[in-house]
Amino acid sequence: MAPPELLALLVALLLIIHLLTKNRKLSKRLPPGSLGIPIIGQSLGLLRAMRTNTGEEWIQKRINKYGPISKLSLFGLPAVFLTGPAANKFIFSSDSLAPKQTQSMSRIIGARNMLELTGKDHKRVRGAVSYFLKAEVLRKSLGKIDEEIRHHLRTNWLGHNQVKVMPSMKSLTFNIICSTLFGMERGARREVLVQEFTKVMAGLWSVPINLPFTNFNKSLKATRRIRKVLTKVLDEKRCALKRGECSSDEDLITYLLSLGADNGEALTEDEILDNAVLVMIGGYDTTSILLTFIARQLANDPAI
Ligand SMILES: *[C@@H]1O[C@H](CO)[C@@H](O)[C@H](O)[C@H]1NC(C)=O
Repeated sequence: MAPPELLALLVALLLIIHLLTKNRKLSKRLPPGSLGIPIIGQSLGLLRAMRTNTGEEWIQKRINKYGPISKLSLFGLPAVFLTGPAANKFIFSSDSLAPKQTQSMSRIIGARNMLELTGKDHKRVRGAVSYFLKAEVLRKSLGKIDEEIRHHLRTNWLGHNQVKVMPSMKSLTFNIICSTLFGMERGARREVLVQEFTKVMAGLWSVPINLPFTNFNKSLKATRRIRKVLTKVLDEKRCALKRGECSSDEDLITYLLSLGADNGEALTEDEILDNAVLVMIGGYDTTSILLTFIARQLANDPAI
């Protein structure tokens, strides 16, 4: 299993059971396994396995040792590890369980990102963001996407004997997100953003210890710089909208900025920033990995 798939799997599995800590009576019925060292728990072992692409062995070892259900501690919180079809069915069909971001993630992405919000706020923010990501709406950005792809192929593929697809698709995906979601032209600003963004990604799956040398700390710093850049973008778009120089459906940011306060749809500046960072993180890995596999498939099977 490739590390990204493993990450996706973990997001589903990382259901933090608060009962574990709240209700002492239940503690007799806890699954086997150790919570390890406080805060750190089993995080480092798992991260090492993901880096060396041995995630599957890591999982298998746990199963051999404790069976299909065990407890452990990951990224600062007690967690339960579940495997098998019945466990998956239980998780995905249970209303009382909700997927939760790790502490590092919510601190890095921001407290107003839609995965952290509940109730009305969640509905309002999710509604706004997912409206823009609908196929009919995104279709209007096809011209921009096409332009980014052509530019990318011209500069990175044409005349090259060999191309590393994964880094290439990462950079293409990043550029398309910048263009269609943030309305950000190619140039120095994007360069700053991509550098900071790489640091953010490194800290997403980290133990939330905020000391100067930790990935978590570097990631927090990077996200702060990203927000500074995006805040400037927001200010410019707000002015442009006021002067009628751009329309509300130009990109995600202008769309979110133009939502009316009168009918209770408006998003706060923090909500726009947090969710801009969220869609960037959500879109970057998933899309670039999918594109990489498509390229691999096409290369291996020319008939397709
Ligand atoms: C990084 O760590 C230093 C030292 O503990 C701290 O002063 C700083 O605020 C941290 N950075 C962030 C962004 O939290």
